[in-house]
Amino acid sequence: MYTLPTVEDTHAFGRRLAGILRAGDLVVLSGPLGAGKTAMAQGVGAGLDVRGSVTSPTFVIARVHQPDRAGGVPMVHVDAYRFGTLADPRAEIDDLDLDASVEDSVTLVEWGEGMVEQLADSHLEVRIDRRDDDTRVVELIGHGGDWPVRVEKLDG
Ligand SMILES: Nc1ncnc2c1ncn2[C@@H]1O[C@H](COP(=O)(O)OP(=O)(O)OP(=O)(O)O)[C@@H](O)[C@H]1O
Ligand SMILES: [Mg+2]
Repeated sequence: MYTLPTVEDTHAFGRRLAGILRAGDLVVLSGPLGAGKTAMAQGVGAGLDVRGSVTSPTFVIARVHQPDRAGGVPMVHVDAYRFGTLADPRAEIDDLDLDASVEDSVTLVEWGEGMVEQLADSHLEVRIDRRDDDTRVVELIGHGGDWPVRVEKLDG
């Protein structure tokens, strides 16, 4: 559990998180409205060195940010509010026919509370919560694959 007092701390945490991410990853950002999911995605985007400003994909379902350096990976940023509930967002996102495939990208999905449980495939859950004093707390929960090991690497 990490405490993030300001939005800058959330950005910094996202940049650090980017260090353990690689192509094919699915990262689910969960938390209530205004928790800081998009702010976290901005930090990850900065850490991955992707182009374009990372904003709330409210009027589009998903947006691709191409890497700005050789050997970089694209970041696919999705707002799942538009999706409703899905067991396999990866397949759904590939069906959108974006200019990137999820297996070659890092995919970040902003997901509402209580929507993560039905996710079947391996993924990293980044659970952000808002405290009464307006600070945020974040918890990383690795589901399947080598996520537990990678989460430990970040924690250590
Ligand atoms: N520690 C913090 N981390 C993140 N955001 C913070 C923090 N403190 C304050 N904020 C503010 O809270 C708001 C969070 O907005 P953001 O769009 O990132 O949330 P969200 O979870 O993506 O919301 P939505 O559910 O609408 O997609 C921003 O205005 C941001 O500046
Ligand atoms: Mg958002």
